[in-house]
Amino acid sequence: MIEQSELEAQLKALLADEKYWIANCAQFSTFVFQNFAGLNWAGFYFKHGQQLKLGPFQGKVACNPIPLGKGVCGKAASAGKPIRVKDVLDFPGHIACDPLSRSELVLPLSVQGSLLGVFDLDSPHRDRFKQKEECQLTDLLEILIKKTDFKSSGLL
Ligand code: SME
Repeated sequence: MIEQSELEAQLKALLADEKYWIANCAQFSTFVFQNFAGLNWAGFYFKHGQQLKLGPFQGKVACNPIPLGKGVCGKAASAGKPIRVKDVLDFPGHIACDPLSRSELVLPLSVQGSLLGVFDLDSPHRDRFKQKEECQLTDLLEILIKKTDFKSSGLL
């Protein structure tokens, strides 16, 4: 696993001067999937009315749509706060897209105070995501937000 400072430098170089939100979210999910060990899914859901709809991701085909307030993603979106799940078997209402997933981290994606959606990571390992990963991903998402024109997405 490479250092966070190196990851951040690589992400900035990868996104470079591109501002298009779909290109940057696609690159971001693949970048995370490639650089964090032990993942089986990494990707976005975006808020459309009262639902979260699937965005760019890496991994197996996923559940779509997810109602706000449902599952780990819908709950993180409603609360506007990250949720770390040590063991999805202990999380009531967890939506199992892949029965092999065992732990999960969901981070809300907010731009200029508006909730745009969530970034979701799944792992087949129990307790894969700690405070460290939550901080790392939060900082990487901050880079994505700074570099991307989300206004053109029509989601804001
Ligand atoms: N497990 C999530 C659903 C999305 S997938 O993991 C890709 C949830 O409970 O919201």
